[in-house]
Amino acid sequence: MGIFSFNAIPLAFLLAIISGAVNACPPSDREALLALSSSLKEPYLGIFDSWKGTDCCSNWYGISCDPTTHRVTDVSLRGESEDPILQKTGHSSSGYMTGTINPSICQLDRLTTLIIADWKGITGEIPSCLASLPNLRVLDLIGNSLSGKIPDQIGNLQKLTVLNLADNKINGEIPSSIVQLSSLKHLDLSNNLLTGEVPANFGNLKMLSRALLSGNQLTGTVPISISNMSRLADLDLSRNKIQGQIPAQLGKMKVLATLDLGSNMLTGEIPPAVLGSTGLGILNLSRNSLEGNIPDVFGPKSYFMALDLSFNNLKGPVPGSLSSAKFVGHLDLSHNHLCGTIPVGTPFDHLEASSFDSNDCLCGNPLKTC
Ligand SMILES: *[C@@H]1O[C@H](CO)[C@@H](O)[C@H](O)[C@H]1NC(C)=O
Ligand SMILES: *[C@@H]1O[C@H](CO)[C@@H](O)[C@H](O)[C@H]1NC(C)=O
Repeated sequence: MGIFSFNAIPLAFLLAIISGAVNACPPSDREALLALSSSLKEPYLGIFDSWKGTDCCSNWYGISCDPTTHRVTDVSLRGESEDPILQKTGHSSSGYMTGTINPSICQLDRLTTLIIADWKGITGEIPSCLASLPNLRVLDLIGNSLSGKIPDQIGNLQKLTVLNLADNKINGEIPSSIVQLSSLKHLDLSNNLLTGEVPANFGNLKMLSRALLSGNQLTGTVPISISNMSRLADLDLSRNKIQGQIPAQLGKMKVLATLDLGSNMLTGEIPPAVLGSTGLGILNLSRNSLEGNIPDVFGPKSYFMALDLSFNNLKGPVPGSLSSAKFVGHLDLSHNHLCGTIPVGTPFDHLEASSFDSNDCLCGNPLKTC
């Protein structure tokens, strides 16, 4: 222990250090945090001004420790939220931080939560050594300017439940190891520069309830294995370059409530099973190259808060069964090649002409009479 090297220090001060040290974080954890702070710059709020003293478990902003071992378990720094430090400064409700995430963070080997989120200016890569933190449950680096790749070994994080890397500049492919994250519930990689395909065995992520991959440059097809995901409630692959047909099996998923495949390059017809799914509340297939008729498969259990099929090559009539749907909130069938009489019924009472804009020959309320 380094205590004996303090013998030049006044006795009272030394005693204070020793008694404090009983409950203090280990010097190695403290040093790892100081190395982290030395490679970050946060000029407005003074967050790192609180990172002083020997005990990094006490009053270091954003740091929490295990009460028994005094090892650092949480690093939680959010630049945009209800966070009190943002409120009390009277600054705008968003912070700004630059610099990089120092790999020294990986020396905190009891870390369960790492949140360095919404600071906009943090650059550099995600340290690949994060994939060797065995207890990590939450990794949330949303809203920075991180670049480079997702660590190849990310799949080692067997306790990880939340992986949020959205709104950065991360490139490369989704590592194939990602499907090994057997505890993962929430995956958000939206709005990055990811290329390549969604791994074919993505459906191995059995615990996943939200898969948000929108706003990248993903190619390939929608993996059929996704239909095997019994807890998936929210799938967003919008604004990518995904091709091929929509797997009909998606219509059989138990809890899928939101399916957003908008702004891709999907072709073929809309599978009847998907449109007729009674669990889907939000379905967005807008801005693809879908063709054929809209399947006439709606019924009294159809309940759509939003149904957006706009900007495709759909033809034929607006299906009559849509008027028997229990609820259709926002409907957009515009910019297709539909033709015929718009059905009447409660789901149509509140719809505006814009829902049917730019088709070939639709007529009836809310458009002109036939
Ligand atoms: C779905 O899961 C079953 C059982 O785990 C497996 O045998 C099958 O290959 C999976 N299907 C797809 C398309 O991945
Ligand atoms: C559906 O997706 C398109 C393209 O991604 C988007 O522009 C549109 O706003 C979405 N529709 C709804 C109702 O959210």
